[in-house]
Amino acid sequence: MRDKLEALGNQTLIDIEAAMDAAAIEQIRLRVFGKKGALSEVLKGLGQVSALERPQIGAFANTWKERLEEGLASRGQICEERDLDKRLAAEAVDVTAPARRLHPGSLHILTQTTRRIAAILGRLGFESASGPEIETEYFNFEAVNIPADHPARQMHDTFFIKPGHVLRTHTSSVQMRVLREKKPPIRIFAAGAVYRCEADATHSPLFHQIEGLFVDKGVRMSDLKGVLGELLSELFGTVKFRMRPSYFPFVEPGAEVDIECFKCRGVGHCQLCRSSGWIEVLGCGMVHPFLLTSAGVTDVTGFALGLGVERMAMLLHEVNDIRHMFQGDMRFLQLFRFRGY
Ligand code: PHE
Repeated sequence: MRDKLEALGNQTLIDIEAAMDAAAIEQIRLRVFGKKGALSEVLKGLGQVSALERPQIGAFANTWKERLEEGLASRGQICEERDLDKRLAAEAVDVTAPARRLHPGSLHILTQTTRRIAAILGRLGFESASGPEIETEYFNFEAVNIPADHPARQMHDTFFIKPGHVLRTHTSSVQMRVLREKKPPIRIFAAGAVYRCEADATHSPLFHQIEGLFVDKGVRMSDLKGVLGELLSELFGTVKFRMRPSYFPFVEPGAEVDIECFKCRGVGHCQLCRSSGWIEVLGCGMVHPFLLTSAGVTDVTGFALGLGVERMAMLLHEVNDIRHMFQGDMRFLQLFRFRGY
């Protein structure tokens, strides 16, 4: 029995030293000292031991019991400390770790483009002006020299809202509002939504325009050309442009402005300019005397220009379908994270 006790004791001491955490210590305690544990198992044999030997063996067993309890206690303490260290290490906050990425919202490509153009015009001395999106037929049409029977009305695919009111078809509707309100020198731009009943890859029923209007003594076509040069080179870099005679009822002479295709420079097979070498970017011209006279503004001349924001954004970022602008697809929007406008 001594041998059995000694074997159990020695093996248990080895196990205790090998224990790595409090749970392992607890397991050993149960295995050895539990109700049906190894020690009780050995001590069951005490009945067979002679009465003479029994006290000695009992004392021997007690000594082992104490040694093992001591061992469990001291190794147990070490294990508990190890456990605590481990937990602290696992829970530690690494203040040097990089911060989690935030996903802040960003400005829509159209907002960015509008602000970019507004900033350029602002530097050239143009101030912001505005008019309503639900506009009177008068300001949208008559005031800008498009009378009721004028064929140009048909070109506008107008949404009629109620008698005498339309969703404005262009920002030129702001021209007469400003001419009536302000005295020359007038140098304004008007940015905002306009509406036309048309829809395909390059046309949306709602789109955005920016109008520029400059009225003062002695304003000439060369002033218009200067502003265009500034605007276009800020947007597209050094680029050739041409003013091609065109017709808008509210300007005379009127022109459409083309820039040299920045993709093919006018050579070869090109989708962007349809191999013409030129890309149309805006309409402009000298303010028609009809507008100045009916606003009662005298002794001045002026120029006006109007551009499509979607069209500019599409050209600048090579977007081939206007509908991307309005669908809110995150994959598209994230291509145009705010870049400082
Ligand atoms: N309003 C014209 C359009 O919608 C653009 C334009 C503005 C043309 C000003 C000339 C002068 O197409």
